Amino acid sequence: MCGIVGYVGFREAYPILIKGLKRLEYRGYDSAGVALLDQESDLNIYKAKGKVADLELEASKHDINGNIGIAHTRWATHGEPNQVNAHPHTSESGNIALIHNGIIENYATIKAKLIKEGITFKSCTDTEVLVQLIEFLQKGHNLTLAEAVQQALKKVVGAYAIAVIEKGNPDTIVAARKSSPLVVGVGEGEFFVGSDASPIIEYTNKVIYLEDEEVAIISKKDGVRVVSLNNTEVRAEISELALSLDEIEKGGYPHFMLKEIFEQPKTLRNCMRGRVSKNHKNIVLSGVLDNIEKFKNARRIIIIACGTSWHAALIGEHLIENLCRVPVEVEYASEFRYRNPIIYKDDIVIALSQSGETADTLAALMLAKEAGAFIYGICNAVGSSIPRITDSGSYIHVGPEIGVASTKAFTGQVTVLTMLAMTLAKAKHSITQEDLTSLISELDTIPDKIQKILELNDQIADIAKIFTYAKNFIYLGRGYSYPVALEGALKLKEISYIHAEGYPAAEMKHGPIALIDQEMPIVVIATHNGMYEKLISNIQEIKSRHGKIIAIVSEGDETVKALADYCFEIPSTLECLDPVLSTIPLQLLSYHIAVCKGKDVDQPRNLAKSVTVE
Ligand code: M6R
Repeated sequence: MCGIVGYVGFREAYPILIKGLKRLEYRGYDSAGVALLDQESDLNIYKAKGKVADLELEASKHDINGNIGIAHTRWATHGEPNQVNAHPHTSESGNIALIHNGIIENYATIKAKLIKEGITFKSCTDTEVLVQLIEFLQKGHNLTLAEAVQQALKKVVGAYAIAVIEKGNPDTIVAARKSSPLVVGVGEGEFFVGSDASPIIEYTNKVIYLEDEEVAIISKKDGVRVVSLNNTEVRAEISELALSLDEIEKGGYPHFMLKEIFEQPKTLRNCMRGRVSKNHKNIVLSGVLDNIEKFKNARRIIIIACGTSWHAALIGEHLIENLCRVPVEVEYASEFRYRNPIIYKDDIVIALSQSGETADTLAALMLAKEAGAFIYGICNAVGSSIPRITDSGSYIHVGPEIGVASTKAFTGQVTVLTMLAMTLAKAKHSITQEDLTSLISELDTIPDKIQKILELNDQIADIAKIFTYAKNFIYLGRGYSYPVALEGALKLKEISYIHAEGYPAAEMKHGPIALIDQEMPIVVIATHNGMYEKLISNIQEIKSRHGKIIAIVSEGDETVKALADYCFEIPSTLECLDPVLSTIPLQLLSYHIAVCKGKDVDQPRNLAKSVTVE
């Protein structure tokens, strides 16, 4: 939610900031703004409702010079998305400009106090309170900018990643974070700030990840100093980024989502690299092996997640329970954290999150940690908040996911959960070596099988055109395929704005069947596994009510083909590995329907990639 970027150095700041905002636009895109300090130390601020392109249009009419600046792309929380509420926000005198990602929860109390002191507010945002408070404290106590930021942050409750500049101080950015991500890039005589490393990687691969309640005083002359809110010096560790530029560019694809769907054979090979033994006898998931006694003795595994990650968790539940015979509970992080859950010290709580920053997942994990459970993270974004607070974990290693609709992260999460279940099953002897070897051998074929499914792209694009009329879709699956149905429905609704519901196929007759008529498209995952025969009965029920059936079937299937209106054939695999394959045509179907409807697939309305507010 919201992307922030800052630059101080010897180059023109504006082009770096705009490029940075474009890379961060996946985080929010309802308004954008930039603040620049020019040679005369004038503070120029430009803002626009809409996307970064709208900001560029606005800024092109004005002075965009300066070697220092901060910029922001917004996902509105407090105050509607308009020009006034867009960041940067300024203090009463107009001397201080601030950008913010997060939420100031006690903004109303502080605002009331500041209004009593005679301060006038221009916007409806929580953020403006922070910049006004900084100046109020600075003036009242004769503080430097950094000191005023420290004092102000001690008074706020909530989450923040901020960057602040002030008139007359053209060498310094003050940045700080708590529960929202912030990276400082360290170049030669130039420094960067970003919500993630994507705006930075083009210029330097050296970064500092700030911890909660740390303040970075970033000076062109003196470099980066990191201090606590109480001004205690912190030894800032410089890390090297293992990110390359082509990972964050479209590489010839029209959308990041399509690029990321097509990357899956490669991303899953990366996910398995070094973890699947060559002779297929063993899986080496070090986070689990290093803590194998904890895993073996776990009373229960709880997986907490949101959105697509929650769907991957449901598949994990099947995998772990089937292979390891350990009870698993899957929880929405937002529900878990507020319902006073029972957590035992011998529970293992796994947080599943692509971004590693989702506020609800992070808070739920903290709760589990406080209750004494062993906490484990399965994340994609390296160095993000969840991996930094967990006892152990496994990265999914699928590379940056930029399309707001999650695709390659989902298949990476399911693959890591599969490897986790295999590792634990081997340790608990709940699987024979023979079964394990055939499972590992089959897992190793999955990237090639996905490559084959991607050849269906043109066929799926043609069929997608037929369904742009639809106002509703139903997705059905059973067993391992039920979470795939949920995921297919979520993918469709978030990027095409068509209402879609996923159901366990047998539940249909308990209500949703009433919706079926000749207009209703029903996507059925009917691969030749598990409850295939029972699914055929469900398909017959739809057929007799004239629903339009789009089926995902195993290669060579004739029975479902005879019943369905449209079929996508995918290679056969073991039942527990089916979800990773059957989800691919559903990703492509949603993508093409959304494109046919002219929707912005990479940046769907009202959404943001990292949900860093609850
Ligand atoms: O970064 P996370 O995996 O924690 O994100 C969770 C959800 O916000 C995310 O999966 C969301 O549902 C996606 N837009 C789905 O495509």
